[in-house]
Amino acid sequence: MAPDQPADLSQNAIDRVVADALAAFAAAGTSVELKAARLAHAGERSPLALANRSIGTIPGPERKDAGQRLGAARAAVNAALTAREDELGAAELARRLVEERVDVTLPVEVGPQGAPHPITALMDLMGDVFIAMGWEIAEGPEAEAEWLNFDALNTRPDHPARSTTDTLFVEPLASHVLLRTQTSPVQARTMLDREPPIYIVCPGKVYRADEFDATHVPVFHQLEGLCVDRGITLAHLKGTLDHLARSMFGDDIETRMRPHFFPFTEPSAEVDLKCFVCHGASVGNPDAPCRTCRSQGWIEWGGCGVVNPRVLIACGIDPEVYSGFAFGMGIERTLMFRNNAADMRDMVEGDVRFSRSLKGMAR
Ligand code: DAH
Repeated sequence: MAPDQPADLSQNAIDRVVADALAAFAAAGTSVELKAARLAHAGERSPLALANRSIGTIPGPERKDAGQRLGAARAAVNAALTAREDELGAAELARRLVEERVDVTLPVEVGPQGAPHPITALMDLMGDVFIAMGWEIAEGPEAEAEWLNFDALNTRPDHPARSTTDTLFVEPLASHVLLRTQTSPVQARTMLDREPPIYIVCPGKVYRADEFDATHVPVFHQLEGLCVDRGITLAHLKGTLDHLARSMFGDDIETRMRPHFFPFTEPSAEVDLKCFVCHGASVGNPDAPCRTCRSQGWIEWGGCGVVNPRVLIACGIDPEVYSGFAFGMGIERTLMFRNNAADMRDMVEGDVRFSRSLKGMAR
């Protein structure tokens, strides 16, 4: 009905409009549909609104009556609308409460778990053995002064380890900075830095110009140890290494010290572990060769010795008053022997399955 046409205000017409409105509200199944029905039947341009506007055109006596009937009709439509709004609102809320329900008792799916790298875990573990004895952890830079890596450790300029085929130097060469080939410069740093008594271990990365294969990696890890105090002897070294070996490999492990040469210790030795595989049975027994120890019965673990007095002097410590011992061993080797990790490449490739397979073992 156009607004300029006089509205049909008969009761019949009003009843029809009301009935249409109530039917439309009842038919609306969602609040969106109800909104459309409200606009059509109770909005500003709905038949009832237009009829209300035309009341002014009705002559006096009938106007009051029409007004009352229209008012009642509008009240009925509005009441039905409100009731239907409440109904649909409650139904929608009930449905959302069901649909969006969260069961907090359901098991949670945790994402794939990683594991600390076995080298890191083992370095921590080895460090802990010494912390338990009151030693401290020391650190030094991986890009190190050539003097600390070699000269302070009594390694002369013509020593083969100093050649560029063995050592990675940092350019410009005149800076005399290299990637440390051993953790031993931390010995020199510590002695230069503080007075004895010194009891430190230094776990860390070292670099060598090596090929990358099953038994060599150009970046690997060592644990360095240094003790400087009054009255320290080779016996203290042996006891300390035996304690570390038992902590790493169990009480049955056998060690031996085999004379060797290192510029920074005198006397020096290599420390060997009794072969885990053949337990020495392959020695002189061609019928049962052992690949692990190459039928030697022993496998090399690291180097050690009594600190050379020349090193103490270079680091400002009086060798008449103090003596010390030092040792250094490869963490990768320790992991190989301890956890049966045969291929060093597994240790650098970063496959989480390798870390997971050793999870807990290195504790
Ligand atoms: N720095 C030696 C190496 O990398 C290992 C070593 C030997 C460390 C004797 C020491 C030591 O502290 O006394 O082969």
